[in-house]
Amino acid sequence: MTDTRTPAYRPIPSDMGIPFIGYAKEFMQDPMVFATTLERRNGPVIHTQIMGQKAVVLLGPDANQFVLQDREGNFSSFGGWDYYIGQVFPGAIMSMDDPDHRFQRRIMQQAFKKPALMAYIAAMNPRIEERLSHWRPRSDYKIFPGIKKLTLDLATSIFLGEEIGPDAERMNQAFIETVDAALAYIRKPVPPFNMWKGMRSRAVLEDYFYRLLPKKRATETPDFFSQFCHATDEDGARFTDKQVVDHMIFLLMAAHDTTTSTLTTMFYALGKHPEWQERLRKESLSFGKPRLEYEDLEKMESLGWAMKEALRLYPPLTSIPRRVSRDCSFNGYFLKKGTLVGVYPIHTHRMPSLWTCPETFDPLRFSPERNEHKQHMFQWIPFGGGAHMCLGQHFADLQVKAIMHQILQQYRWSIPASYTMPYQHVPIAKPKDGLPVRLEYVAKDRQATPA
Ligand code: HEM
Repeated sequence: MTDTRTPAYRPIPSDMGIPFIGYAKEFMQDPMVFATTLERRNGPVIHTQIMGQKAVVLLGPDANQFVLQDREGNFSSFGGWDYYIGQVFPGAIMSMDDPDHRFQRRIMQQAFKKPALMAYIAAMNPRIEERLSHWRPRSDYKIFPGIKKLTLDLATSIFLGEEIGPDAERMNQAFIETVDAALAYIRKPVPPFNMWKGMRSRAVLEDYFYRLLPKKRATETPDFFSQFCHATDEDGARFTDKQVVDHMIFLLMAAHDTTTSTLTTMFYALGKHPEWQERLRKESLSFGKPRLEYEDLEKMESLGWAMKEALRLYPPLTSIPRRVSRDCSFNGYFLKKGTLVGVYPIHTHRMPSLWTCPETFDPLRFSPERNEHKQHMFQWIPFGGGAHMCLGQHFADLQVKAIMHQILQQYRWSIPASYTMPYQHVPIAKPKDGLPVRLEYVAKDRQATPA
């Protein structure tokens, strides 16, 4: 006989913090401390409240797999992301559910195939060289704005295939305001608050992309904008004008802030660990060429481990939201349809049960001899996992390596041992002080005393 009794679920511990605001302050200040504190008090599944949103926090690699891989189709990305990005990034692929998501991702994937990536790298290298030629030795060179300028410049050439020229600063500001709107407390576009600024900036970006669109539809060039205009899936389906514009705006944000964050944290870690900086410099110099080709970048072993380790310690996206779309259960805990849930890459990335000395920068943990990251498929997830896994992972890897290869050959940098980077973790991780470093030339004949 079938047992029709309701299974006995474990009650989810509730830890709500201050009424209405909940743990907004703790979450914004440091999601790692927030998650570990909740876990210490309640265990790995916690019902809590952040910014007026009730949510269940699910911690650990099994939870990441359950939510992100989502084998049973229990979760909605739209339901998770729409509250944060729906108004300023409408039509973003990250907040789509099937069947729309599957359909649009299949078209978008065309722009990330190997021949396209090879063309992007070829176009990127001279731009990196040109940008770096403006970097000068200084005792307090601010890395974050320097890198942001460089990646924005690359974004315009590789993503748009255009020179933005005098509009560059305005566009940069528009991106900053749209991203900041994601975590606005006041969700209505009321002046002068962040959501209003974000929506105003969104209109600036739309106007820019719609003006360029006819030109991009007319010719095929090796940039994402043109690729999106011309890409088709196996059945010949293409993006509409609105889809192209929505995807371009989302892509620029997704690509630009995340790689800037990764490069910045690599600078920080390599400034703190000069022995690793020297090791990577030696690796880069051993290639004997100032710019690397697509194939070379794959061979940069130590640089690859250092990038992975920076992404482990400082994932640009510290948490990933979803909404339960059908009643389900995880490890005996009942998750009701409509519940907001969040997984925390930053927490899993520092679990002592998975990583030796998790707070230590130790790139060799990714070497084939140790393979620490291979105990669980969902223990190292800076790029997420499952159907929404980052489409730009390979591109980000190439871009970061291409930039670092050129920087390592030309510049050496150091950070005082006493310095700890003040960090803003959300929406996308970045240093609050711009990360000042002492920057010098590597080559003796270019030696100049830092200003
Ligand atoms: C180190 C840099 C990057 C990191 C850490 C990163 C991280 C992520 C994460 C965690 C997601 C999944 C979000 C979710 O599951 O809800 C994601 C999605 C995405 N990323 Fe990235 N990203 C990076 C760079 C890039 C770049 C360079 C591009 C484009 C050139 C890009 C394009 C995308 C797109 C299109 C999606 C949505 C995919 C989908 O929903 O199907 N990302 N990224």
